[in-house]
Amino acid sequence: MRRVLTYGTFDLLHHGHIRLLKRAKALGDYLVVAVSTDEFNAGKGKQSYHDYALRKEIVESIRYVDLVIPEESWEQKADDVKRYAIDVVAMGDDWADSDRFDYLKEYCELVFLPRTEGVSTTEIKEDLGGAG
Ligand code: CTP
Repeated sequence: MRRVLTYGTFDLLHHGHIRLLKRAKALGDYLVVAVSTDEFNAGKGKQSYHDYALRKEIVESIRYVDLVIPEESWEQKADDVKRYAIDVVAMGDDWADSDRFDYLKEYCELVFLPRTEGVSTTEIKEDLGGAG
């Protein structure tokens, strides 16, 4: 059993999210998704449209996802890897040029998955900004 872990906010779910989760699941047999909490996002100056409980409910209902846990801090990743016996951490390649997660290679594989072009939650919000 190969266990995969990924992180994200997953607000206003779109096909970029689904494709990321599908490819993350394909790296193994069991996919854990750490969904950022509202408090963690507030600390980054971000506010989601759907609160954590709703985003958790939505992500949990995706067929590729086996378990949702809260992402509450930048520092929890090594603990998550140990607690959930993770073999691979998969990140979107928005982080590929950064070395900030290199320390995880001590505990597991680290894989960067290409983002889907042309869609993001931020773009959806901007595009709908004047609508309604
Ligand atoms: N993701 C992706 N392709 C996209 C958008 C997101 O593969 N077009 C991936 C991200 O790389 C991340 C996961 O989906 O691994 C969750 O991303 P998140 O930041 O929640 O979504 P975004 O749409 O990027 O949201 P925002 O615009 O708020 O940054």
